[in-house]
Amino acid sequence: MATQLGVTFTGLHFENPFLLASAPPTESDSNIMRAFDAGWGGVVTKTIGLHPVVNVAGPKTKFLRATSDTGQLSMQKRPGTALHSSWNWELISDKTLDWWVPRISRIKQAHPSRILVASIMAGSGSDQELAHWQTLAKACQDEGADALELNLSCPHMDRKDMGSNIGKDRELISIVTQVVKEVARVPVWAKLTPSTTDIVLEARGAFRGGADAITSSNTFPSLPLIDPETLEFEVNVDGYVSSGGLGGPAILPLSLAKMAQLTQAFPDKSFSGIGGIAEFPHALNYFLLGCGTVQICTAAMLDHAIGPNVLRKLQTGMQAAMERHGWASLDDFRGHMRDRVVVHSKIRRPDAESYHGGYVGEGYASSVDAAIGDVPPAAVGPKA
Ligand SMILES: Cc1cc2nc3c(=O)[nH]c(=O)nc-3n(C[C@H](O)[C@H](O)[C@H](O)COP(=O)(O)O)c2cc1C
Repeated sequence: MATQLGVTFTGLHFENPFLLASAPPTESDSNIMRAFDAGWGGVVTKTIGLHPVVNVAGPKTKFLRATSDTGQLSMQKRPGTALHSSWNWELISDKTLDWWVPRISRIKQAHPSRILVASIMAGSGSDQELAHWQTLAKACQDEGADALELNLSCPHMDRKDMGSNIGKDRELISIVTQVVKEVARVPVWAKLTPSTTDIVLEARGAFRGGADAITSSNTFPSLPLIDPETLEFEVNVDGYVSSGGLGGPAILPLSLAKMAQLTQAFPDKSFSGIGGIAEFPHALNYFLLGCGTVQICTAAMLDHAIGPNVLRKLQTGMQAAMERHGWASLDDFRGHMRDRVVVHSKIRRPDAESYHGGYVGEGYASSVDAAIGDVPPAAVGPKA
C-alpha cells in the first residue's frame, strides 16, 4: 500500500508531521536552512520578542544523565549513562525583530514549500504591551511566516504578564490570542505551559480567543540537582539558581498526560505535541492521542544541533509502522487511543461487586451522596 507522511495541519501542508520546536536548534537562519535541507516538515523559530534579552552568565542548558546500575543522576559526563532530561534557563531569542525580519524572508525564498512558524512573545500588562504582539505578528507574517506560535509558556519570566505567567491566566490567554487574531492572516497556535492544574481551562481560553491550534508542552518547572560532594547546584551562577525548565525523556509521560486531557476535551481541534520525543514510538503516542504534528527539541540539540539523524529515524519509523499496520496516512491512526484514557473508576476490578469508587464504607459518604458519576463501573474495554 502507498503510504504518505504528508499532513495538513491548521490548513497548512507539511511534507511530514515532524517539526523542530522553538529552541536553540531554530535560533538562526543558518540552522533553520540546515533543518529544511535535512528534511524537517516544519520549523518553529526561537521565540522572537521586542524587549532586550540578556541571558545568565553561565551555561544556559545542561543534560542530566542516569547510570543504570547505581541509579546515580548527574550532569557530569560519564560513560555508560542514558539521557534523563535537559534542564535550561535560556530566555527567548537574544536577536532583535530587525535581525529576524530579513532572515524569515530569505528562509522562505529558499524553501517555499516548507512550513516556517514564527514563535513570538510580548507582555500583556497594558494596551501598549498588547500592541507589541501585533507588531511582532505583522512583521513575521509580512516576511512570509506561514503561521504564528504564541509563547504563553516560557517558564523563566519574573514579569507577571509574560511567558508562562500569561499561560496560567485563562483571561489573559484569551485576550492575547484575540489581539493577535485581529491582525493575523495566517494560523495562530497557542503554546501553553504544563504548569497549571487543569490545562483544559487554559486551552478553552485560547480557543475562545480564536486559536487555530494548541501546542503542548513547554518545559516543566524544575531545579538542577545538588552535587553531593561540592554541595552546589549542578548549574549555578555564583552559587545561585532559579527555577528552570525540564525537557527530554523525563517529560514524555508527563506531557502525554496533558495532551490526553486536551484532545479528549476538544476532539475536533488541532494539537501539536511536544515533550521527550527522540524516536517514532514516542511520536506515535502523541498521534494516537490525537495530535496532527509533533515538535522536537532536546533530541535535536544532541544530534548535530538540528537533528538530522533524529529526523531520519522518525521518518523511517513512521513509514515502517504505517506499512506494518496498513495505514495510508496519519488520518488512519490519529486519535485511535484518545478514548482509552478514562477516569479511575472506569477501570475493571477483579471483583466489581465490592468496588464502590472509594465512596461506600465506614466513615465515607455513600456513592449517592457523593455523586461523582459512574460508580461502580460496568466492565469497560477497548472498542471493537
Ligand atoms: C534550551 C532551550 C531553549 C528553549 N527555548 C524556547 C523558546 O524560546 N520558546 C519556546 O516556545 N520554547 C522553548 N523551549 C522549549 C522547547 O521548545 C520544548 O517545548 C521543550 O524543550 C520540550 O521538548 P523536548 O522534550 O523535545 O525538549 C526551549 C527548550 C530548551 C531546552
